[in-house]
Amino acid sequence: MADDGAITVIAIDGPAGSGKSTVARRLADSLGLEYLDTGAMYRAVTFAVLARGLEPDGGEPVAEVARDVRILLEPDGSVLVDGVDVSTQIRGPEVSRAVSEVAANQAVRAELVSQQREWARRRSGGVLEGRDIGSVVFPDADLKVYLTASPEVRAQRRAKEVTDLDYGTVAADMARRDSFDSRREHDPLRQTDDAVTIDTSELTIDEVVTLLADKVRAAR
Ligand code: DC
Repeated sequence: MADDGAITVIAIDGPAGSGKSTVARRLADSLGLEYLDTGAMYRAVTFAVLARGLEPDGGEPVAEVARDVRILLEPDGSVLVDGVDVSTQIRGPEVSRAVSEVAANQAVRAELVSQQREWARRRSGGVLEGRDIGSVVFPDADLKVYLTASPEVRAQRRAKEVTDLDYGTVAADMARRDSFDSRREHDPLRQTDDAVTIDTSELTIDEVVTLLADKVRAAR
């Protein structure tokens, strides 16, 4: 992708609680690029699916919702579905529990992957974070990063974000979702051979961002 000089894409993948979102946002800022949280897109579709009373594993009707809804991700992190701000609801327990099933729907993925490619094309690139960015959405990204951390550290980070659930519940939910996301048939979470892998368990956000920004600048 670097060869055509037109578009710079940085792909950041990894499991929940690996530090992806914070690192991706800060890296984008430091490089003057925009940032896309693709997990928020799957969450937004899941919110709309549940709001319409559909089952998350409901097949074609669920895919139709993905094609129908207008998802808007604001630069300040707010998420709008058909013009309504659902930023809080998409992080809540109902959506968190159902999102893996919606994300396993191949037609939902096809729709969102196409929107993600279009998002990057319009901006001449950006930093995209998710599960399949380096493997499926942009297999020829300029830089592919796979962030990880120990299960305990990841669950502790998530438990701090969601104040209404205790550590044990968060850890169990996370383990279930990780297993589902890694084993699903379509575009599972996986590490590509050409990704820079970083275990963030013992690193600060600043250390990870600096390391990655240096790599991007060295490659330019
Ligand atoms: O990053 P997150 O926890 O907000 O992601 C929510 C869910 O969406 C997660 O269970 C996996 C799924 N997802 C995906 O399948 N592909 C992506 N590119 C991003 C997220």
